[in-house]
Amino acid sequence: MTRLFLSTARATRVVAHRGASHEHPEHTLAAYRQAIADGADALECDVRLTADRRLVCVHDRRVERTSDGRGVVSEMTYEELAALDFGGWKGAEHRGARVLLFEDLLEEALAADRPVGLAVETKHPTRAGGALEAELVRVLRAYGLADGSDGRVEVMSFSRTALTRMHRLAPGLPAVYLMERRLRPVRPPFATHAGPGIELVRRDPGLVGRLKARGLSVRVWTVDEPEDVELCLRLGVDTIITNRPREVREHLYAL
Ligand code: G3P
Ligand code: CA
Repeated sequence: MTRLFLSTARATRVVAHRGASHEHPEHTLAAYRQAIADGADALECDVRLTADRRLVCVHDRRVERTSDGRGVVSEMTYEELAALDFGGWKGAEHRGARVLLFEDLLEEALAADRPVGLAVETKHPTRAGGALEAELVRVLRAYGLADGSDGRVEVMSFSRTALTRMHRLAPGLPAVYLMERRLRPVRPPFATHAGPGIELVRRDPGLVGRLKARGLSVRVWTVDEPEDVELCLRLGVDTIITNRPREVREHLYAL
């Protein structure tokens, strides 16, 4: 049993949520570089489309929480966003961090000295009417990553519409159907992965087994506490998405 637990622990993938975002400002180059140095198997990022149709890594609809500016990402140009400080909110030592283009994140992952994946979450795509997915697939194609053959990129969304659009444009890319508070019975038939939040798993641990019994690979977010890491392992979760990739990996390797 111990041996089984140990091999399960080491087989569990660790994905850095918005980078090593416990330590660094989320979605910044510093956060992703730290996550790569910490040994994360993949990098999670949220993508939004700017007014001039550039893909940027930003979680919120507006910039106030994570920058010194004001406004809605989709109504601002990349140049306007690039003039803002996306680091100072996390502490004076992080001042000067800039908004990250998705392409620059991709380059960073590809430049690593080992394979580093990307888990890309499309944010509020229904507002952009398909333009976000089209741009995401265009960028992935430019890097030869849109057919999913190397297993490096997966696409995640709470929106069935967004995943369906992505699937039409890039059917080879793995699709992760995210769930926040409850198990949603109707998932896109092509989704091969399910992404419940940790609160949902704590409340209903049997959920993981039920999802796996349907043939789905399970990614759980956002798992930062040791007891949650152990719960995920006991349940056979395939991928842990965390703000603290180094601590989670150390925990897995200490078992
Ligand atoms: O990894 C999935 C998770 O990121 C979804 O929630 O709000 O952090 O984007 P959120
Ligand atoms: Ca996300």
